[in-house]
Amino acid sequence: MAGQHDIRTPHMTREGGDRLPPAVVRAVSCPVCGESLTQSPTALRCPAGHSFDIARQGYVNFLGARPRTPLADSTEMATARSEFLAAGHYAALADNLAALVARLVPGGGLVVDAGAGTGYYLAVVLDHLTEAVGLALDSSTAGLRRAARAHSRAAAIGWDVWQPWPLRTGSAAAILNVFAPRNPDEFHRVLAPEGTLAVVTPTQDHLAELRAWVDLLGIQEDKLDQVDTALAGRFRLVDREPLSVELALDADDVRRLVQMGPNAHHLDRGDRRARLAALRGGVEVTASFVLSAYRPVH
Ligand SMILES: C[S@@+](CC[C@H](N)C(=O)[O-])C[C@H]1O[C@@H](n2cnc3c(N)ncnc32)[C@H](O)[C@@H]1O
Ligand SMILES: [Zn+2]
Repeated sequence: MAGQHDIRTPHMTREGGDRLPPAVVRAVSCPVCGESLTQSPTALRCPAGHSFDIARQGYVNFLGARPRTPLADSTEMATARSEFLAAGHYAALADNLAALVARLVPGGGLVVDAGAGTGYYLAVVLDHLTEAVGLALDSSTAGLRRAARAHSRAAAIGWDVWQPWPLRTGSAAAILNVFAPRNPDEFHRVLAPEGTLAVVTPTQDHLAELRAWVDLLGIQEDKLDQVDTALAGRFRLVDREPLSVELALDADDVRRLVQMGPNAHHLDRGDRRARLAALRGGVEVTASFVLSAYRPVH
């Protein structure tokens, strides 16, 4: 069941005093020079002297002083997402995703969540893959703070997924990509030859009722085709499942749902804020996704 993970506190160390799972650190490379990294209680360092602090909250930001990527979640978005997910509305999605990955990824290895947000889906996948370790990649510090605590076998690193990843070639048994930016070249390079890429996309019906009421941004019409096209030649589809869930939401849930997504960037457009504030009582909304699993082609 989603939501019952083995969470950790930010200061927690592991056996040997490590704050990040050693198997994750072995897969990571220095974002400046590509060398391997070793961890001390306060930082990750490479032999050339590049050093990256482990934040008090447990994440490591490889982006340094670089400006935030344009689509990184703000603190308000990450808070809304965290509260919405904690209420269990997308638990069925998390459980189905985890079951799909567990079927295709026997045993352990590294699971990388690209655009992991708060690490919610990664944590559920790690619950299903008891030998695996996880890495949440995201460019939002608000997301990373939460992702660093999402699971005892996970680490969180600040990175722009559109840049070459600070990860060794072939180091990942699985890559998750849930409503997040994609980098097909890096998916392919970083996945092991037998690895699995699991992608969740919304369908045209996703939150359709809500989009009508609050005049939300629509889903791009051919999202799934776009993903298939972007991955074509480098990946083959091995599994695809639709999933629809009827959500019973109260007015606060609806506000969180709007605030956690791309619409948060456009809430001041038209009368959206007024429409949201006017919502009363419970509403029924359809969440509709497609879960796709791909294997790399070599
Ligand atoms: C719609 S949210 C999905 C988060 C998470 N997968 C979930 O479903 O809960 C998109 C995530 O991608 C992150 N993001 C946006 N652009 C990014 C980039 N260029 N590199 C890394 N993360 C990015 C955002 O900060 C946000 O956490
Ligand atoms: Zn270095």
